[in-house]
Amino acid sequence: MFHFGADYYPEHWPESRWPTDARLMQEAGFTVVRLAEFAWTKIEPSPGKYHFAWLDRAIDLLAAHGISVLLGTPTASPPAWLMNQDETLFRVQRDGRRHSYGNRRGYCPNHPDYHAHSRRIVTVLAEHYAGNENVIGWQIDNEFGDPCYCEICRRAFHEFLKEKYQTLDELNTRWGTDFWSHIYTDWAQIPLPMEVISASDPSLELDFKRFASQSYVRFQQLQIDILREKSPGKPITHNFMEFSYDQINYFDLARSLDFVALDSYPRGFWSPKLAPNPAHIALDLDAARGLKQKNFWMMEQQSGPSGAHYVGETPRPGEIRLWAYQSIAHGADAILFFRWRTCRFGVEQYWHGILDHAGLPNRRYEEVKRMGSELKLLAEIAGSKPQAQTAILVSPDSRFAFHIQPNNAAFNYKQHVRDIYAPLHRRHVTVDILSESADFSAYRLLFAPALYVLPQALAEKLKQFVAQGGTLVLTPRSGVKDEHNLVVDAPLPGLLTELVGAVVEEYDSPAPDMQNHLEFSLPGLTAQPSALGWRDILRPATARVIACYGRDYYAGKPAIVLNQYGQGQVLYIGTFSDETLYEALTDWLLTLSNVSPVLPVSSSIEVTQRGDFYFLLNHSAQTETVQLPRKMFNLLTTQPVETLALAAHEVAILKSV
Ligand code: GAL
Repeated sequence: MFHFGADYYPEHWPESRWPTDARLMQEAGFTVVRLAEFAWTKIEPSPGKYHFAWLDRAIDLLAAHGISVLLGTPTASPPAWLMNQDETLFRVQRDGRRHSYGNRRGYCPNHPDYHAHSRRIVTVLAEHYAGNENVIGWQIDNEFGDPCYCEICRRAFHEFLKEKYQTLDELNTRWGTDFWSHIYTDWAQIPLPMEVISASDPSLELDFKRFASQSYVRFQQLQIDILREKSPGKPITHNFMEFSYDQINYFDLARSLDFVALDSYPRGFWSPKLAPNPAHIALDLDAARGLKQKNFWMMEQQSGPSGAHYVGETPRPGEIRLWAYQSIAHGADAILFFRWRTCRFGVEQYWHGILDHAGLPNRRYEEVKRMGSELKLLAEIAGSKPQAQTAILVSPDSRFAFHIQPNNAAFNYKQHVRDIYAPLHRRHVTVDILSESADFSAYRLLFAPALYVLPQALAEKLKQFVAQGGTLVLTPRSGVKDEHNLVVDAPLPGLLTELVGAVVEEYDSPAPDMQNHLEFSLPGLTAQPSALGWRDILRPATARVIACYGRDYYAGKPAIVLNQYGQGQVLYIGTFSDETLYEALTDWLLTLSNVSPVLPVSSSIEVTQRGDFYFLLNHSAQTETVQLPRKMFNLLTTQPVETLALAAHEVAILKSV
């Protein structure tokens, strides 16, 4: 069974309204709502005085309508009475400015007093609801956030470094502190990488990013430990942001949770001119599934126009349902819409939910309700998993390091991964997003984009993957740095040189107006994609040349090479380029690595597979006709089908007959 519901804030509405909400939710097929993740002050209006009665009544009322509850621990938005006790409870930004009361997520994640307050509120909540069968799980905090640069964090950073390096000699060597006489003789001398006159030390910066990430992982663990002890048997999650968020190592954050939950806003108000890109949404979803290599929950599925000072576009008819099915198509086992009803007050006054401010059933409600009734036909799909032959390896350390030194102003790690992903998505190829600790052996084709920070163990693992028959695709700036963010003492791509069968003879980091293009030496490949962002000029040893540069002093020199290694092969692409390069190469790569699409249909609709089920999703505003390769069964119409006319934003869910 799929869980289906919304994020609900009964505390924003008079209690006399709650029965109407519960009835409308039940009529829409809701099975679950998330409650209370921002309700700390309502639960503890003054120190140590707890008010659970309102929340108990809301939970009981929902239970009477067959709706369970997932409760949030409210630590993302602490009470004013608490935070105003001590200004050091607030987080300090990189520019040295300290947050003050009035927003959320403004706390220091390492503050011992904030930990103590959090322990207290989580303990009372866990104890109060441990025995309540209608509370089926917990969400910790809300979208953990950005680093803190306060004095407490500085001392905690020193402890982190002591634990990691043991001695200052070791730290000085690993960081290369001889540079500009930055040799530390006392741990207390080590600065935080705040805004300085020039760039700060890349090794210090990288360790600080790891520390800042670990601060939230530990703060989350503090809460997990309490919940596991006081409220055993109730699964625990956290709501993660989309793939673009990279301040935290999300693989680490996911590790001790029971499942991952994602928040998704395809028509966010920050990009009003851009139509939602189905491939970008799909990547967000696959990345969420990849964090634990497991199905996930959609905790905040956009259900109305988003906005704060400006209001974003209204989801077009059918889009909310389409996005929700797309989430399921990529492995979501629960859909909760953000939010049930648009709030009349507060910062998110214009961040619309299913119902508008007036609270009446509307077009969006009818769309959600339709899906609620359809899900009853689809119960057998829940729990099934997408199976991929292709994967993209994501390295949080490399992402952190590119944050510190993007290398070329046009380079953006997220965009680079999107450029690789989108042509695969268009070809109906399932993609897993992996961390470096995953098992690669099940995949035929592995992309390891811009592996800038490369530990020895990962280099060995990649060699093994290729030696055993895998096809590996590497892109520029791979193998440049060791784990301490020092450049390797060897020709590039460093530890990958033997595998690649070529060295980077020289590189050029071009300005945006320095045009160049690629010329392929593959039969039939006449496209000449741009060579943007970076240019490695390659000197092959054992590798074969696949493409050369078209212009500049390196015209005719190798830009892409292919090397046989053991039973497999490695493609090294020496330029970041853009999606056009991957569009040109993907068919050839799929044939080379023997990867097939989930269903051979030639259409611009999205096609995915989960277990024995196929999802066909029309993201366009026109009807699309799809010829299926064989007769199949449509679970939504309960009819056999061979040719489908999918209306704008329509969905078909099929299984083989
Ligand atoms: C999410 C957040 C929600 C809500 C929503 C709309 O990022 O988790 O609490 O703020 O965005 O802004």
